[in-house]
Formats: sequence, C-alpha cells, structure tokens
Amino acid sequence: MNKDFLAISELNRAEIMELLELGIELKRKQCAGEAHNYLAGKTLAMIFQKPSTRTRVSFEVGALQLGGHALYLGPNDIQIGKRESIADVARTLSRYVDLIMARLFGHENIVELAQAASVPVINGLTDLLHPCQVMADMMTILEKRGSFDGLKVTYIGDGNNMVNSWLNIAGRIPMTLALAIPGGYDPDETILAAVRETGISEVQIFREARPAAAGSHVLYTDVWASMGQEAEAAERKEVFKQFQIDTELVKHAHPECLVMHCLPAHRGEEITAEVIDGPRSIVFDQAENRLHAQKAIMAKLSS
Ligand code: CP
Ligand code: NVA
Repeated sequence: MNKDFLAISELNRAEIMELLELGIELKRKQCAGEAHNYLAGKTLAMIFQKPSTRTRVSFEVGALQLGGHALYLGPNDIQIGKRESIADVARTLSRYVDLIMARLFGHENIVELAQAASVPVINGLTDLLHPCQVMADMMTILEKRGSFDGLKVTYIGDGNNMVNSWLNIAGRIPMTLALAIPGGYDPDETILAAVRETGISEVQIFREARPAAAGSHVLYTDVWASMGQEAEAAERKEVFKQFQIDTELVKHAHPECLVMHCLPAHRGEEITAEVIDGPRSIVFDQAENRLHAQKAIMAKLSS
C-alpha cells in the first residue's frame, strides 16, 4: 500500500479487500474485548478545515481503541495554508506525530500535505473525495450481503465527493453503478473517464431517479449542498427536488434493497424521514463502520 490513504484509486483490489476484511476483524475484536493495539504509543493529528461529527469522533475513538492518542486541530488552531504554508505544517507535524488525518477543502491541498509529510496522511474528506466513507460503506455492504457479487448500487443526487469516491471504488470492484444526477451536476469528468477506461464496472448515468433505481441492491444519497456550497442551497433545492429517495422510489429497487446515506441528512430534501427512519435504512450501521474501517486504515498505514 502507498504511504498515504488519499484516494481509493491509489489502491488495488486486493489492498481494498484486505482493508475491508481487517475492518471486519477489528470490529469483532473490539466487540469481543480482544486487544488490538496497533497504534500503541502513537499519535494521530486530525486537521479540520470543515465541520464534522462522524469523522472527528470515529478517528479519535478509533485511535484510542488502537492504543494510541489523537489530537484535534480545528479550523482556528493551525489555520493550515493561512498562518503558515501547508508544507510547513506537514513538516512540523511529522516531527511530533505518527499519522495525520485531514479534512480540507481543495483536494490539491491534501496532496501537498501528504507530499511534504514524512508520516502517512489520511483523507478525511476533500471537495473531490471522501474515501474513508466509501470504505465504511463497502464494509457495511459486505457485512449485510456477504459478497459484492452481482451488486447494483444506485446513487441519487449531486455529483459530489461521495459520487467521485463511489466511482473510484467501481474502478476496482466490479458492480453496476447507476447514477441519477441532474444535468450540470455531474461527477468529476477525469474520474468518470478513468473508471470507464478500466471496464471493471458498468457505470450508467440517468437524469431521472426511477430508471436508475430499478432492481438496485443499494439506494444511496447525500446532501444536495455540500460543505462550502451553503450559498447555493436554495437554488439546489429547486434543481434536485426530483432526486429524492422516497417510499415510492424504494419500491422500484430490489425488494431487499439497503438504503444508505453518509450523513448528515436533511429529511424532506434528499431523503424522506419515512425512508431514512424506515426498515430498509442502514445509515447508522454505516456510521458505526466509519470507526472500524478507519481503524483498519490506521493500523495498516502505521504497520
Ligand atoms: N459522513 C461524514 O463524514 O460525517 P461528518 O461530516 O459528520 O464527519
Ligand atoms: N458531500 C458532503 C459529504 C458530507 C459527509 C459534503 O462534502 O459536505
């Protein structure tokens, strides 16, 4: 595996499967109370330019459960790129800590951070990608279905960092990935082209939710306006109003379909309360698995 965990596209299929299986094993060990001190005596620095509930808590708790320690560095602490350069932050932190996790706006900034850091850097979300989330999502699907064979995933909504990450994983693990996205809000062109080039998965793009959802094993959505797009929220509500997971849409999917959302959710926008709080929803299993999947990533990078 690379020094860093910045994008799923930097891993091969065997490395992804190894991480998912390690995540499942670490979850078992945690539940059984078995020791798994992969980070004994080590420190994780967590840099946040954006808010977070799951990422912040799951990384901090995960580091502690692995026998290590985590430091929260919020937007007002180190002011990466403002108070001092990204590279200087990376060089300084590398003298103190063993791992860095960062949630930044520009993806190029985390690439720069990782290049200048001598310790592993983990992407805790950028405007382009959210690879830790999709690892937790895949771990959850593996737990629920037992395999990825014949998997069809439908994503409904904005062509954002979540979709780009789903595309990246579809470039490594075979699946049908159907995207229902309004015109003008498509995912990253380069990532889409690269995934199609691999020929590993079938990627379908629809401009309506219903045909994309047909027979799907997973219906997935995310907010219509991501962090940093708050000023566009009203306009986006209008554009995306037909791109909602509701009870009617779920009826078009596979009878045992799983409903997923990376959270935070806006009930009544991208998903109805009835669906997210209903029997097909596995959103809190997904949220829990952030912890276990990221423990696997931290354990592997620090080994
Ligand atoms: N899904 C996710 O990353 O949640 P947070 O933004 O709360 O970390
Ligand atoms: N697309 C969302 C994901 C939040 C976990 C955002 O970037 O805000």
